[in-house]
Amino acid sequence: MTPMKKFDPASLLVARTAAADEGAIIRMAQKSRDLRALGHDVVSLTVGEPDFDTPDNIQQAATRAMKAGFTHYSPVAGIPELRAAVSKKLKAENNLDYAASEIVLANGAKQAIANAVLSIIDEGDEVIMLAPFWVSYETTVRFAGGTPVVLHSGISEGYKVPASRIAAAVTPRTKLLILNSPCNPSGAVWSPAELEEIAAIVLAHPQMMVLSDEIYEYIIFEGTMKSIGALPGMRERTITVNGFSKGFAMTGWRLGYTAAVEPISKAIARIQSTITTGANQFVQRAAIEALEGPRGAVEAMRLRYKARRDMVMAALKKIEGVAISPIPATFYALPDVSAVLGKKSGNHVLDTPEALCDWLLESHGVATVPGTAFGAATSIRLSFAASEADLEKALGRIATALNGIS
Ligand SMILES: Cc1ncc(COP(=O)(O)O)c(C=O)c1O
Repeated sequence: MTPMKKFDPASLLVARTAAADEGAIIRMAQKSRDLRALGHDVVSLTVGEPDFDTPDNIQQAATRAMKAGFTHYSPVAGIPELRAAVSKKLKAENNLDYAASEIVLANGAKQAIANAVLSIIDEGDEVIMLAPFWVSYETTVRFAGGTPVVLHSGISEGYKVPASRIAAAVTPRTKLLILNSPCNPSGAVWSPAELEEIAAIVLAHPQMMVLSDEIYEYIIFEGTMKSIGALPGMRERTITVNGFSKGFAMTGWRLGYTAAVEPISKAIARIQSTITTGANQFVQRAAIEALEGPRGAVEAMRLRYKARRDMVMAALKKIEGVAISPIPATFYALPDVSAVLGKKSGNHVLDTPEALCDWLLESHGVATVPGTAFGAATSIRLSFAASEADLEKALGRIATALNGIS
């Protein structure tokens, strides 16, 4: 009898699992936790998560809903009351015209994006991404078998890819363009004129749609953000994604949504039904309070982020070798560190953003994320969703570190 081959669980894994990379943000956050556990004093500016707790009126609404027995399965696409509240919000705040039946609630905007991508992207379909972009877009597109087409832009362009380069990248296989305004990681906001240019490109190609991720809409300091789906002709061509994590400080509650025309929203619900069923029911009840209750806490958080933004800008501007562009929105800064790359500090050769971030963490106790993870090869990302005291400490350390290299 031939001996049986030893069971190797790793040999069962399929390529898709490699596409689902845990990501640089999680790795850097974990590394800073490990160093802290060893007794090091580390300030982490890695994670894009509000440091505020969820506003009290929203917490209370969840408690009431739980007590009232809303602890059962939700309809897959969400409870009708919240779908109606989202439809109303999109009309009133974003001038978007989607009926309640075109809204699908998901377990976070991340799932909403995955639902949308899995609904329309197949093997070999191309998806245009405007770098710098949020890491998960790329992994999700690869997960679906799609081909990311990454277009780069630098700090001199305000981290916004010009429309001419987008138009040149469209092929007959281009099915989707992912737009994230306000943008994680750059904080950039696309102007109405820039959105019109993108819309014109999409409308010229009948096989193409936009996924517009608007999750940072309430964290805006200058100007206003507009939804591309509100432009003429764009209702059918846009899947709008939004969620409760950032603006309402509800990251752990896991609630987001898509708005899209019916054939697409129905497919999105089918994908979600296969994977997770409907989102948590008492969280959905609380989300109605988030949308329709008082917004004082949301505004108070925005003002705190704005003050921190000012603090970060002022500090970074004074550091040798660091270039910074305006940050009209979000709680991220994406300083360009080209002038630092290639320099040395003792034995450390700071030739890549990864090397720079590792050195900042290991030698100076500040955790940041290499821009490479976001398609920004000469930048690092700092999250200022951190206390003012931590920010002051971290910015002081970064200044000491960078001003001390030759
Ligand atoms: C641009 C962007 N979209 C979506 C998400 C996901 O948000 P959620 O917590 O709702 O899944 C994030 C979270 O970091 C994000 O930065």
